[in-house]
Amino acid sequence: MENFEFVSPTHFVFGKGAEEQVGEKLAERGAKRVLLHFGGQSAVKSGLIDRVRASLDAAGVERVELGGVRPNPEITLVREGVALCKEHGVDWVLAVGGGSVIDSAKAVAVGARYDGDVWDFFETKRQTNDVLPIAVVLTIPAAGSEASKNTVVSNDALQMKSGYPNNAQRPKLAFMNPELTFTLPPFQTAAGLTDMFCHLLERFFDDVGAVPVTDNLCLSLMRTVRAEAPRVLAEPDNYDARANVMWAGMLCHQGLAGVGRHEDWATHGLEHELSALYPEITHGAGLAVMFPAWMEFVCDANPERFAFYGREVFGLAPTGDAMADALSAIDETRSFFASLGMPTTLAELDVEEGDIEKLIPTLKANKGEPFGSFKKLSMDDARAIYRLAL
Ligand code: NZQ
Ligand code: ZN
Repeated sequence: MENFEFVSPTHFVFGKGAEEQVGEKLAERGAKRVLLHFGGQSAVKSGLIDRVRASLDAAGVERVELGGVRPNPEITLVREGVALCKEHGVDWVLAVGGGSVIDSAKAVAVGARYDGDVWDFFETKRQTNDVLPIAVVLTIPAAGSEASKNTVVSNDALQMKSGYPNNAQRPKLAFMNPELTFTLPPFQTAAGLTDMFCHLLERFFDDVGAVPVTDNLCLSLMRTVRAEAPRVLAEPDNYDARANVMWAGMLCHQGLAGVGRHEDWATHGLEHELSALYPEITHGAGLAVMFPAWMEFVCDANPERFAFYGREVFGLAPTGDAMADALSAIDETRSFFASLGMPTTLAELDVEEGDIEKLIPTLKANKGEPFGSFKKLSMDDARAIYRLAL
């Protein structure tokens, strides 16, 4: 087991009506004025934003509002949020939405106490503890940003999408009501399931040997996501299925499922370049295409690990040939994503061979060379993986 540090400061309020406690819990922690940050329309249309406003009013917590966060959130709106926080003396940032809103809120919270441009943090990865505290009301289980240490933001002017990790931006409060996810369209539900499953794959496949305490947690979550996925798609109003998926989404990315391992994250790097170039690409859909391609490219580095995954998650019987078992496990992975309605090729995402060269310079800037852990990858390897995914 490798050395690790693990920080998880999030107080979770989980279950029916959780969002009604927003005002009270913030007031208990001394919040005076929050930036209420939300997305394009779903949370307004469902009446959730009105309920959150009422909860804040009842607890005497003032608010400044900034809506309109797009999927694959962009730095321009983050800068607006930073300016609002500075102008109005905001002391907490409250995100109501999914990963995009939460990531935008994290970036605002980091920039609010900084004199320069918030994008500096994405460029330099400089750490700071001078971050406004963050609370979230989660509306889609997927990115796991409700407890993770990361934020991922696009900068359209630079055609970049970059991550910024910092434990200080992990949310202090997360309100998780599975009923809020009943309104998710099937595609978003499926993309979320794919993303959370991939957060486990990124952790499970690296260059560290077995770490049983971590690996068994990871495998158990993989089996759970796989079992709940068809249930939640068939019965979108099934509270227990939605609840299991929502809690799993958090556990898949809060960090416990990777402690003691190096983790890989090459495939997230490959996907982030796709949704940077084409912001209309949904992160989970991009991963559904890229993960099996990455697996095919790297599995010869340790086919036994893939065979083990195939046995534990898909119940595949060993054939005595580790490479054959590894390839079967990869087929199962691709079929699982396809069964959710996810794309299996870049062509389905309208990405063409001619786009590949556009992805490489920013991939190199974001990930460096070589990148990945399970197998160290060059930019030529990245080109080959993109071609495998065409
Ligand atoms: O904007 P609105 O109208 O709210 O619509 C959203 C959006 O179109 C909709 N939606 C959300 N909750 C809903 C709903 N529609 C109906 N009912 C609800 N209850 O769903 C769409 C997608 O929302 P988004 O927040 O973009 O989804 P997700 O949570 O998948 O977040 C994706 C972003 O997170 C980043 C991704 O790269 C991407 O930018 N990631 C962040 C991570 C992190 N911070 O740790 C890790 C991940 O690997 C990921 O990279
Ligand atoms: Zn992800």
